[in-house]
Amino acid sequence: MTNLILKAIDERRTTNLFDPSYALDDARIVELVRLATKAPTSFNLQNWRFIAVRTPDRKAELRAVAWDQVKITDSAVTFIVVGQMADHRTLAERLAPLVDAGIMSPPMVGGWEGAAASLYDGQPWRQRDEAVRSAIFGATTLIYAAQALGLGSAPMIGFDPEAVSRHFELGEHEIPVLLLSVGRATDENWPQKPRRPLQQVLDLV
Ligand SMILES: Cc1cc2nc3c(=O)[nH]c(=O)nc-3n(C[C@H](O)[C@H](O)[C@H](O)COP(=O)(O)O)c2cc1C
Repeated sequence: MTNLILKAIDERRTTNLFDPSYALDDARIVELVRLATKAPTSFNLQNWRFIAVRTPDRKAELRAVAWDQVKITDSAVTFIVVGQMADHRTLAERLAPLVDAGIMSPPMVGGWEGAAASLYDGQPWRQRDEAVRSAIFGATTLIYAAQALGLGSAPMIGFDPEAVSRHFELGEHEIPVLLLSVGRATDENWPQKPRRPLQQVLDLV
């Protein structure tokens, strides 16, 4: 496959075993998150936050509330991918750069605010769904950014969300959606796992 994006999608697999001697400098962590934030979000809400856990002490603290998963201390960094409950009142600020750049007009911003309010205002389940959707788009984009930089990654739901929120001081409107470890994969990792037959998952209608 010659197209590098298609090749990355076709070849991705979760890394279970990381080289514990491999570190990532902060500039590369920042670059990974910069790329992750290119992911789409509803109304461009960007209702996410990425906490990069990369010091030995904080890694150990996270591992202790994440099923003791060794990946957290062996990888170079584990991102706590945080989704923020969707809130239409944040939109004016989030869309202001689009207005400044001449992409959107101020009346259009008002229209989007009204649409977002009709979707989310007073609807906590929808606010939460959007937090999870945004965080997963961000995490997925980060996975492929890491792969493009030659790094392996491991998404994880095996953690205590209340404890993670407490230890890493998440706000009341914030949800720790996913942990994502990133680092150098060792040679002993499993090959890619086969997928269900397409006829079981695809309906052409
Ligand atoms: C939402 C989510 C949560 C996961 N949680 C864990 C986890 O806590 N621990 C773990 O070892 N793997 C975890 N995985 C990895 C899956 O087991 C893995 O993605 C799956 O077996 C498919 O393998 P692949 O990613 O190599 O294609 C998780 C994956 C996803 C998408």
